[in-house]
Order: sequence, then C-alpha cells, then structure tokens
Amino acid sequence: MLNQTNTFLFEKIHTVIYSSAEILSKTIAAEIADIITEKQSRGEKTVLGLATGSTPKEIYKELIRMYREEGLSFKNVVCFNLDEYYALPANACQSYRQYMKENLFNHVDVDMSLCFIPATDIIQQDVKKHCEAYEEKIAAFGGLDFQLLGIGRNGHIGFNEPGSHINSVTRLITLDFTTRSDAACEFGTKSNVPRKAITMGVATIMKAKRIVLVAMGERKAEIVKKAVEGPVTEFIPASYLQGHNNTTFVLDNSAAAALTRIKTPWLTDDVNWDVKTIKKAVTHLAITLNKPILKLTANDYNENGLSDLLALYKQVHDLNIDVFNQLQQTITGWPGGKPGADDTNRPERAWPEKKRVLIFSPHPDDDIISMGGTFQRLVDQGHEVHVAYQTSGNIAVADDEAFRFAEFVYDFNNQFAIKSPEAENIFSEALEFLKTKENGKKDIQSLRYIKGLIRKGEAKSTCRFVGVHTDNIHFLNLPFYETGTIEKKPIGEEDYRIIANCIESIKPHQIYAAGDLADPHGTHKVCLDGIFEAIHRLKYNDFMKDCRVWLYKGAWAEWDIDLIEMAVPMSPDQVLKKRYGIFKHQSQKDGVVFQGADSREFWQRAEDRNRETACLYNKLGLAEYEAMEAFVRWHFA
Ligand code: F6R
Repeated sequence: MLNQTNTFLFEKIHTVIYSSAEILSKTIAAEIADIITEKQSRGEKTVLGLATGSTPKEIYKELIRMYREEGLSFKNVVCFNLDEYYALPANACQSYRQYMKENLFNHVDVDMSLCFIPATDIIQQDVKKHCEAYEEKIAAFGGLDFQLLGIGRNGHIGFNEPGSHINSVTRLITLDFTTRSDAACEFGTKSNVPRKAITMGVATIMKAKRIVLVAMGERKAEIVKKAVEGPVTEFIPASYLQGHNNTTFVLDNSAAAALTRIKTPWLTDDVNWDVKTIKKAVTHLAITLNKPILKLTANDYNENGLSDLLALYKQVHDLNIDVFNQLQQTITGWPGGKPGADDTNRPERAWPEKKRVLIFSPHPDDDIISMGGTFQRLVDQGHEVHVAYQTSGNIAVADDEAFRFAEFVYDFNNQFAIKSPEAENIFSEALEFLKTKENGKKDIQSLRYIKGLIRKGEAKSTCRFVGVHTDNIHFLNLPFYETGTIEKKPIGEEDYRIIANCIESIKPHQIYAAGDLADPHGTHKVCLDGIFEAIHRLKYNDFMKDCRVWLYKGAWAEWDIDLIEMAVPMSPDQVLKKRYGIFKHQSQKDGVVFQGADSREFWQRAEDRNRETACLYNKLGLAEYEAMEAFVRWHFA
C-alpha cells in the first residue's frame, strides 16, 4: 500500500509523485492486487470502482500481466464503473463498456455477470430507476473497497462536473464544455460527443474505503494543485476528496509540476541552492512581483521566503546580475552557432561553422509550428538542414479532404484520358466507404494512404518554402502509429531501427526534437522515447560525441523560463513568414479533426506562445523582441 504520511505543507490530500509512468502504474496495480488477494484469502469478494480514460490503461495492462504471469485471479472481484456516456449504442467503439472489455475484462478471469457499468442505451424515463438500482447494487455488495479515479481538466471525478454537490449520487448529468472537448478526438468531432452521461455521484465515490486518484501529464498540473492545495469547492469536485480519510493522489512529475513543493520548493522545505534552483527562484520572484530582475530588492527576497538565498550573496545586486546574465546568455540569433564568435557563453558552439542539422517532427507540421523561425534561420545561415517526419499523421485529415484528393486524381485521369482502373477502384471504394462511415470508425487502407499523402505533400511544400533540399526530407512513417485509430501500437524495435538509421545516415551536429516529456500517451512522447532510445544505441559512435540535442516544446505550452537554454528571437517579418509556412498545412487549417478545447488555429497558438515568451523575457528586464522560440538541451552522455 502506498505510504500515507503527508509531510508537505500546503497539501491537504496525501500525494505521492513518481518520475516514471511505468512505476506509477505498477505501484497502483500492486495495491489493487494486494486487496484482491487479501480478501480472497478470507473468502471475501473485492468490490472495485473502476475508471476509464487514458490514465488507467497502463494500470489495467499491469493487472492483466499479473493475471497471466503471477496467478492473480479476478474470480472474486466485483466491478462497478464510474460512468458511461448516455445514449450511445452499447457496442459503439467509444462506449465505456467497449473500453473496459478491450482494456481489462476480456483479458482476465473476471465474472462478467459481476461487472456493472451504468447503462448507455435505456430510455430517459428509466434512468432514475436505473441509477437508484446502481447505488443499491454497490451497497448490496458491501460498498466499494477501492475506487480508482482520474481527474478531468475541469476537476471532475467520474463525470461529476463542476457544480456537483457533495451529496450527489448516481445520476444523469450534462457534460460540460471542457469534458466534451477533451473527448472530441474519440468521436471525430466535438459535436459527436454525447451531451450527457450517467455517473456515480460524489457521495457514492466518497463512501469508498480507499480512493486512489491518478493524474499524469502537464495538462493536469493546474487542476491537481487546486484540488490538493486549494479550498474545498463544488467548482472543483476533486477537492471534495480532501474530506476523505483514505485517499491518495498519485502523480507523475508533470502533473505534480504546479504543486508548491515542486514549483516553489523554498516555501516548503530547505533547498540546496544550486544554479538551477537559484535561477528558478529569482525568475519566479520577478514574475510574481511583476518586476524586472535587476529591480528586485532585498526586501522582495526577504518577504517572499528567499532570505536563505539572499544570505549566500554579499549584495542583492550580485544575485540579480548573476541570474540576469544567465538569461541574457540564452538569447541567440544563431541557433547553429555564430561563426568566428567567442562561444564560451553562447548556447551553441561556433565550430563547425556549417553544421548538419536534423529536425525531428513527430507529425508533419510540428517542425514549422513549434520551431519555424529557428528552422528558417538554420537554413538561411547555411547549415545542411534535414527534416525527419516521424509519423504519417494520417488520422488527422478530414474525410471530405481525402475524398476531394481522390476525386482530383479521378478527374485528372479523365481529363487527360489516362486509363487507370486502379485509381477508379480506389475512388469508388472511398466513395462507398464514406457514404456509410460511422463516427470514429477506422478508415479503409486506401483512404489512410490518401490522408497520409495529403500530409506528406503539405510537409514537402513547407520544406520548399523554407528552402530545404528535397533530398533532405525524410518520411519515416513509423509503424507504431499506423493503426488507423487514436490508440497506437507500443513503440518497438522496427521504430527504433528506422530512427537510428536516419540519425546514422546524417551524422548530425545538432538534433532538434519535440520535447513533450509531459504527455505519457501522446504521439509526441512516444516519438521522443523513440529518439532517446535510438540515441542511446548510437551514443558511442564518434559522430555522436559531436552532436547536441535540443528539445522544443511540441504542444501548446512553452518551457518554463528558468529551464530555457536557447531562445531564438524573431522579428515581425520572421513571424509572418513562419505563419505562411504553417499555412502550407491546409488540411490542418480552418477547424481540424482534433481541435481540443482550444479554438485557435495552429498558427495563432504558435504566434501567441512565441510572443508570450518574448514578452516574458522583456518583463524580466531583457530586450524587447516580437517573438521567441525556446529550447532546452538534452544531455545524453
Ligand atoms: C472516466 C472518468 C473521468 C476520467 C477523467 C480523466 O471513467 O470518469 O473522470 O477519469 O476525465 O480522463 P483521462 O484519464 O483520459 O485524462
């Protein structure tokens, strides 16, 4: 069982943090397994409350492994799922019944007659009765021994959306905007996401003897902090768990990032004042007080829990200057190094003047969206720039777009009297398939190829626009991605081999990669893991000794300012040029397949984020630029 002493000030719920998603999932699975075996030895049934979503998948995988390899039996287990979408066919691929079968029930010896999930397909008049019966059934089995929870970005537990009362029980609920946006990718678009769900209530959950809430990834960090450290409020239903006497929040590093003990550790504990922590503390202080670094006073430090740090310096000015200089030295217009310049304090070495640069782009547009300005500078400054597109990105193209391209080929052939029965077949097959395609259904192979080709053409167009030589564009089409669904295969040997071959054939002096360390299940993280593994295999080669790896943030967030090691400024013209480069990705413009909760287009998100970074540097007292792209160095030696 997870150790339950809470020693951290500010935290009102017992919280543990793991640096690896794998260990995190194994620890929770082990706790569940212990409860099952212990109750089994007493001849009792274990009543589990189960959650769906992306977070528990690895836990279920580990339970399945324990069943297969360690003899863990589910014969005496009763399962109650937290929730289910209302008004979906029970066999719809997005229903939680299907999820539970695919991720757990079909793979263990659980008695399906003891697995309960709220109904999805009953008529409205029967819902109330059904919910009451669900509550009664849980009580009849003696209540929940263990409840597994995730947390929504709006703080929901189960589908108890903000506003849910502490006394709420199993009921029909209307899903809110954030929940429906987050579910959009499973349903194709947000408008396909059901508006309602049946969920266990807060009171139902709170009656569980043991509750473990799991959160992973940086998109959960802010809400986790509010739930753990903030007041109990109906606006964040997870905060009700502060009132439960046997709850643990289990977090990965990214989901824990906003907690006081992580974000401002000097407020909760004695800290070791190394260079990184000093930079973090000083920039944090300046941002909090909205002051440039060089204007921070001794009072500012003393009144904000930083007198310890101040005591290490003779004068406050020395401390301020020290951190100011560090920030100043991260700014460079020469991401590939400045030829002939003294590079002692520059992010990149000056030599060799012309470098071989390899930019890894997880999807076909991340290169231009996340580091388009730097990409352009590297090309303009004469480096040999290669781009490796890791995945085809084929699931993110709308059906009508694919159909339009198939039709174009068909019309093109007709126009020029080219006889191509294959093209005609593909066209009519796509037409037939699309006529009857259900929401979220996997595309037929030919349609997937067409979608992949559309994205390939767009990436090539961006490269042409930036000035990359055709021979330097590499489409890796990593196999892990090619499932045709959001759910991907685990990354494997073939993927590692393809990435390693690419690096080896180029022998780059610089590698750029999307550093989304945060999202444990996302494609970016898997692509990054693939690069790390490939580098790990190649690192003893001579060429790797002269290779630096720079991470850009691939998703919407930016690196925290204290972590940035290279900041590449952009002029207004460069920002505009980057925008035009992003426009080449027409299939990702004007409402994309996976829009998420952010209604801005990709170019808008990129510009906002690059402007914010520049603005932050400026607020801290550094020069004012229009925009900036930021990088962190990854040391593999
Ligand atoms: C799922 C459920 C939800 C999820 C939450 C987090 O049965 O009730 O509360 O646990 O939305 O979802 P993920 O893990 O996908 O981020």
